[in-house]
Amino acid sequence: MKLYCKAVALALGLAGLLLLYLFVGNAAGDREGDEPPLETAEKEPRVPSGARKGGRLPPAAPFYHQTERAAAAAAAAQVSKQEPRLRLRKAAAGRGKKLAPPRRPKDQKPPTPLISSPQWMHLAVVACGDRLEETLIMLKSAVLFSNRKIKFHIFAENSLKPEFERKLQEWPPSFTKKYEYHVYPISFSVGNAQEWKKLFKPCAAQRLFLPMILKDVDSLLYVDTDVLFLRPIDDIWRFLTAFNSTQLAAMAPEHEIPKIGWYSRFARHPYYGTTGVNSGVMLMNLTRIRNAQFKNSMIPTGLTWEEMLYPLYQKYKNYITWGDQDLLNIIFYFNPECLYLFPCQWNYRPDHCMYGSNCKGAEEEGISILHGNRGVYHDDKQPTFKALFEVIRDFSFEDNLFQSMYYPLQTKFLDTVNTLCGRIPQVFLKQIERTMKKVYENRVIVNIGANFRL
Ligand SMILES: *[C@@H]1O[C@H](CO)[C@@H](O)[C@H](O)[C@H]1NC(C)=O
Ligand SMILES: *[C@@H]1O[C@H](CO)[C@@H](O)[C@H](O)[C@H]1NC(C)=O
Repeated sequence: MKLYCKAVALALGLAGLLLLYLFVGNAAGDREGDEPPLETAEKEPRVPSGARKGGRLPPAAPFYHQTERAAAAAAAAQVSKQEPRLRLRKAAAGRGKKLAPPRRPKDQKPPTPLISSPQWMHLAVVACGDRLEETLIMLKSAVLFSNRKIKFHIFAENSLKPEFERKLQEWPPSFTKKYEYHVYPISFSVGNAQEWKKLFKPCAAQRLFLPMILKDVDSLLYVDTDVLFLRPIDDIWRFLTAFNSTQLAAMAPEHEIPKIGWYSRFARHPYYGTTGVNSGVMLMNLTRIRNAQFKNSMIPTGLTWEEMLYPLYQKYKNYITWGDQDLLNIIFYFNPECLYLFPCQWNYRPDHCMYGSNCKGAEEEGISILHGNRGVYHDDKQPTFKALFEVIRDFSFEDNLFQSMYYPLQTKFLDTVNTLCGRIPQVFLKQIERTMKKVYENRVIVNIGANFRL
């Protein structure tokens, strides 16, 4: 008899869970379909990304990227005193561990950090000529995956401005509230504008003038137009807070292996470190850049950034090949204590796989920021790079990330296994898979929060 009672209780309990599962499934299924995040992502320990391996990222006391999630959780808790979330977890456990294990109570604090740190992240890009579409796809990757709000500073030729504004206003409202943007004309504050414009590519030297133009901005992330974010900008932003007292900018090495590096073989000017740095992804603390005195080869007393640029350019212009990147290398050769070097997975280029895989960090944790230089999004030389570009381009904002981005990506990658970079698909997929899983989880929690408010 006792046994019988137990059985009935158990059956009732299971039925309850099943009901809850159906109910929750509807709430979450609205937008996301019912695709589980993939197995491999689930096996990853739930360490906040900032605390990962070998101190790659700063220790990062505040995990800003969790504030939205915390806000959603708190909203749900207010109405339901946390019950639904706990029950959801049980239900989730019953349907194959689709959600993460319960968070520790300290993660469920009310979202005070949201109010006390409403800082924007700033993203700058310089787009000229035919780079409009590429730039928009870069911005799209930023908006899709990031958590905190972003201000876009877009420097473009006047002819491109209307199209930028039209496209950015077309994006769906749930995304437009995550960013603000401003389109600026190309301008140079010192020296001869025509001469600056000719340096390397049209407009590329513009980035050197950001500290003077964006006087009200404390810090920003500058990227080339051919960059794609495979994880939230919030994560690279944290490097800014890891600067020591003399560092004011951060970049990745130009190469991992000096023997095949361009600077180490060909440069006729000084450059940073053993292989130089690549300026396609660059964090700048503009406040510090504006206030610093820079050592240089012209005047022993030091010069401000603005004072230094034109004389430096005059002195080296006949020796430089890659334009403003070369000037940055010269500047940090004379001021190495000012540069923070971040690892290659934050600026991953074809060079990292076309001579064999040589970016260790990417092998370990996947690519965080992809940089398709050499025009690889637009030809067929590196199909893995092109595949990522195309799936982000073709993704419509409201779709299911796994169905409409991740699965097409995997299919495309099957065709690239015989190429140099296609031999290491896990390097390309690991981080974006993790990112999608987080976006998915955030949406599930937001949906449930909304449901209980009805
Ligand atoms: C940039 O440097 C200034 C001056 O040292 C500092 O006050 C500010 O907090 C720094 N910005 C960031 C994002 O770390
Ligand atoms: C900051 O770090 C850089 C690079 O590691 C180093 O050269 C510099 O001396 C450090 N500055 C201070 C004040 O420790």
